[in-house]
Amino acid sequence: MSKNLIIYYSRKGENYFGGSIRSIAKGNTEIVAEFIQAAVGGDLFEVDTVKPYSDDYTTCTQEAKQEIQTQARPELKKYLTDISAYDHIFVCGPCWWGTFPMAVFSQLEKLNFTGKKVMAVMTHEGSGLGNSERDLQKICQGATFGKGLAVTGSNAPHSQNQVAAWAQSVIK
Ligand SMILES: Cc1cc2nc3c(=O)[nH]c(=O)nc-3n(C[C@H](O)[C@H](O)[C@H](O)COP(=O)(O)O)c2cc1C
Repeated sequence: MSKNLIIYYSRKGENYFGGSIRSIAKGNTEIVAEFIQAAVGGDLFEVDTVKPYSDDYTTCTQEAKQEIQTQARPELKKYLTDISAYDHIFVCGPCWWGTFPMAVFSQLEKLNFTGKKVMAVMTHEGSGLGNSERDLQKICQGATFGKGLAVTGSNAPHSQNQVAAWAQSVIK
């Protein structure tokens, strides 16, 4: 039986929902990552930074912009080092200025993707998958890529059926 790994970053705290800012206990991407696990099984791995991003939305957008400009690789609390047991890797994160938070790349760069099937999953408020698929293709050398999934972040709690149908289709 094939094995699935769901790597995700998701920020708690203030977030933007179609015009207004609200504070949330669980991030949108985490909700979607759990829907993938419920639909197709597998292990969840949360990317978590040593230095937290600001809880304040506007400050966080500035931090994220600076990390992109410097191509930062923020340090993580823990790293996965071996994904040889897995066949399918779902890489999930919020759209931050058109791509994954740099912390996701801190993790991905440590892994050997040869022979894996990789899928981009992005929650967003209008940018869709942005550049996430292009950026994954650069980093996950030796992998093949399934169709990515974009979920509107504010709709994440209502996306279970959409996420399940997609996840089942990409691991076939
Ligand atoms: C730093 C930052 C940058 C963002 N940039 C974008 C963007 O470029 N395009 C977009 O559609 N949404 C953007 N958003 C909105 C998030 O992608 C969206 O709210 C996402 O669902 C958050 O997921 P999370 O709760 O798992 O962290 C941004 C949010 C933050 C905090």
